[in-house]
Amino acid sequence: MSDASTARRADFTIAQDWPAYSAEEHGIWRTLFHRQEAVLRQRACPEFLAGLAGLEVAADDIPDFRRLNALLGAATGWTIVAVPGLVPDAVFFGHLAERRFPATCFIRRADQLDYLQEPDIFHDVYGHVPMLMNPIFADYMQAYGKGGLKALGLGSLHNLARLYWYTVEFGLIRSPSGIRIYGSGIVSSRGESIYSLESPDPNRIGFDLLRIMRTAYRIDDFQASYFVIDNFAQLFAATQPDFSPYYEKLRGMADLAPEAVLPEDLVLHRGKKKS
Ligand code: PHE
Ligand code: FE
Repeated sequence: MSDASTARRADFTIAQDWPAYSAEEHGIWRTLFHRQEAVLRQRACPEFLAGLAGLEVAADDIPDFRRLNALLGAATGWTIVAVPGLVPDAVFFGHLAERRFPATCFIRRADQLDYLQEPDIFHDVYGHVPMLMNPIFADYMQAYGKGGLKALGLGSLHNLARLYWYTVEFGLIRSPSGIRIYGSGIVSSRGESIYSLESPDPNRIGFDLLRIMRTAYRIDDFQASYFVIDNFAQLFAATQPDFSPYYEKLRGMADLAPEAVLPEDLVLHRGKKKS
């Protein structure tokens, strides 16, 4: 980390160094991008597809963050900042609270097209940035950043992190043409894009804020339950109140397993898998 072009700043950001990507790396981006185009046309929500269309520079090569930021900034005032990998929670939330989205720069190898443990630029940019083009979602993400700083101070980050997981990363949404995807972890995975909507195995349950904040999640497999919002206004409205009393209430309640289904759940589909 001595080279000025890769040196990490105090806020953990680095320079993207776009000219350094190889032709092979740009090719991996194009392969991932065009495969998802076919998969997501009838599966992603209209807001994601509109956001992606508004980022037209992303279709050809690994995007240059400076060119993406011109489009994203004009749409919602968000900025993508480059980071070397996962950053400390407080740093991550601090960026979101200022409408900056930390994105990794490296791209997966050609033999990792279908699965990668940690986020790469395809997940971070293709997965997350289209939704940041949407005004309501853009405000939700900023509010989440502020809420993250608060949850850290209250010792309740484990509860709030589940909200991020089951909405930002793995969220589904109703649409006139059926359930569609908005979660970044799904849209950046071909397998889960199909599984989340079409497999009989997972539960699909109506969005319920406190229920989600009680529910553990899987990081090493497709999700056992997906939570479905009616629209982004519902998600934004539900997360407006001060969460402090919610965190207090959750302290007295047991966690739920990822595959749990409760009598009071709004079950849209009950998973067939015995987990
Ligand atoms: N309203 C939440 C709080 O008071 C913050 C928040 C907003 C969290 C949006 C998530 C999403 O903590
Ligand atoms: Fe992510």
